[in-house]
Formats: sequence, C-alpha cells, structure tokens
Amino acid sequence: MKPKNSGFKYTKVMDKVQVKDKTFRIFIESASIQKRVSEISAQIDAEYQGRKPLFIVVLNGAFMFAADLFKNLKIECEVTFVKLSSYSGTKSTEVVKELIGLNENISGRDVIIVEDIIDTGITMENMMEKFKQSNPSSLKICTMLFKPNAFRKNYKIDYIGMEIPNDFIIGYGLDYDGFARNLPDIYTLVQ
Ligand code: IMP
Ligand code: MG
Repeated sequence: MKPKNSGFKYTKVMDKVQVKDKTFRIFIESASIQKRVSEISAQIDAEYQGRKPLFIVVLNGAFMFAADLFKNLKIECEVTFVKLSSYSGTKSTEVVKELIGLNENISGRDVIIVEDIIDTGITMENMMEKFKQSNPSSLKICTMLFKPNAFRKNYKIDYIGMEIPNDFIIGYGLDYDGFARNLPDIYTLVQ
C-alpha cells in the first residue's frame, strides 16, 4: 500500500533560523550529514562483524545521529542510553551530571559510546573512566562532530563524522537551551 502524501516537503533549506535571542545560519546540510553517517556505519559494520557490540547513546543530543547510524548498520548489535548534562546555554559548565545511568552489564562486551559532539572532551572522559571500571572487552568512541580546537584531553576518538571550528552550533540533535534539536541541518551562531 502506498503511504498517503502528508504534504510535507523538505526542498529548500532555510538559510537562517532564530532561536530565542540568537540567530544561526546554515552550516552543514542534511544531505552531507547523511552521507557521512552512512560511511561511518559501513566502517563499523566492517570492523565489528560477528562481535555484537553494544552502543551506548548519550542523551539528549546524540539521539538523532544514533537513530540514523543505527538504521544504516547491518551487523547484529544492541543499543542503550545514558543521560548526562554539562551545558548551560552556549557554554560548557565543566560539571557533568548523570541524570539516567546505565542498566546493562557491559563486562566482556564490545562497547561503542555514541555522542553528538565532542567539545572540551570532559563529558566523554568522565564516561569512559566510569565505563572502564565495568571491564568491557573493548571501548570505542563514535561522535558525529568534533571541535579539535576546543579539545583539552588526549584520548583517541575512534570514529569522527566531521571536524568543525570552535563555534556554537545547533540542529541535528544539538540544542540551544533545549530548542532546535529537530532541525535536520546543522546551523552555526551568527556573532
Ligand atoms: P564537552 O564535555 O565539552 O566535550 O561537551 C560535550 C557536550 O556539550 C556535548 O555532548 C553536547 O551536548 C554539548 N555541546 C558541545 N558543543 C556544543 C555546541 O556547539 N552546541 C550544542 N551543544 C554542544
Ligand atoms: Mg551530548
């Protein structure tokens, strides 16, 4: 059966959006994001053949990237979620709060942490230290975005979608004070 046309068409990308007091302009279009996501999925498929990895998705920001990544994956795998918070407005607070913890036993598992963005690297370091204590057989990191000029740590990031400048961005899961996560494209702050 053919689905009914909902009337929704996403043809023209809006080049500017206003979120609360700030203006953002288009930075990365959905098509480029999707292309890169399918490349990462293919890479993970190839590297995790027969290993049944567990993906730990960091809420809220990574939900959209994780959904697209997951739809592309062909290997046998599982997904679970943790919820953290470190940002307030457009600045990292450096204090990472755990709002929803991990229920699964990850001992002996191949684990891949999925993030929307690695900025200073504090959030991810916190998580890795914590998960390592449960003795997974391997622990890798997969992030859609990475800000190399903001990164203050020196651990390896295994899968990176795109490297971006040290600017505040929204869309594709990323928010400004809770808003704009639903935008399919990524926007950058107009100073
Ligand atoms: P980090 O601990 O500084 O690496 O920050 C990581 C978290 O801060 C990410 O998981 C995001 O939720 C959030 N974050 C970092 N940069 C941005 C941004 O440009 N826009 C929106 N959220 C961001
Ligand atoms: Mg995040």
